[in-house]
Amino acid sequence: MSPGSLFDPLADAYDQARPSYPDQLFVDLEMLAGRPVAGAGVVDVGAGTGIATRAMLARGARVLPVDLGPVMLDRLRRHSPDLPVVRGDGEALPLRDACADLVTYAQAWHWVGVPAAAAEAARVLRPGGSLAVWWNDVDAEDFHWYQRQQDRLEAMSPGYTRDYRSRPFAEELRWTGLFAEVVTVTCRWHREIDLDRYETWLRSKSFVAAIGDRVEDFLAAERRSLLRSFPDGLIIEPFRTVLVVARLP
Ligand SMILES: C[S@@+](CC[C@H](N)C(=O)[O-])C[C@H]1O[C@@H](n2cnc3c(N)ncnc32)[C@H](O)[C@@H]1O
Repeated sequence: MSPGSLFDPLADAYDQARPSYPDQLFVDLEMLAGRPVAGAGVVDVGAGTGIATRAMLARGARVLPVDLGPVMLDRLRRHSPDLPVVRGDGEALPLRDACADLVTYAQAWHWVGVPAAAAEAARVLRPGGSLAVWWNDVDAEDFHWYQRQQDRLEAMSPGYTRDYRSRPFAEELRWTGLFAEVVTVTCRWHREIDLDRYETWLRSKSFVAAIGDRVEDFLAAERRSLLRSFPDGLIIEPFRTVLVVARLP
């Protein structure tokens, strides 16, 4: 039995406040994978509460969600009660060879070791199939409220650094030698979110939970800081969604 996920205690907050993904992401995915999402057999690894799973189901894909965390998967099943789910590890997928057109990791690739997870993705993909990994990154480096938040996180969350997702993800996939082509595209968008929901979104982050006993102090400081920049309590949060698609020969 695999261990649970460090996200399990965050499942409710995750479910309530995490953003979904822009339509453009799926347009780009189809272009780079060279096939429509509709009708594709997708293994969605690190599916969590199912945000990406549902987006792909809505576009006509056949999706099998896989996650380490039983509580996250339980939330997913509340949204999609008839959907079979698999509790499993991206580094050792309990799936047969060549069973999928797409293997996706939405907001989850940084949790797995690249050599093992890339080899597993290549194993379960059919020839010509694609591994697609993507993230919604907050695109607010130029804004004071975001800089204040990042300063506070670096001071309060053990081991946190603001560039924690700046690894060379495409190069790492090229270095495996498993894929014929690896391409990255980025799209930009934003959402408006009220302060209460924004606080729930912060609570859903593993590095905010890692603050531990001082998390309420952190959140109170965030509220004050955000109200200085957004006095009406409606936060405009810019994102860039980074998609890396690695296609098998
Ligand atoms: C940030 S959440 C992403 C959830 C979802 N894909 C989404 O779009 O919101 C990361 C998920 O990856 C899962 N995870 C972490 N390590 C994993 C592994 N080795 N194998 C499978 N899932 C893993 C966690 O349990 C968590 O649900």
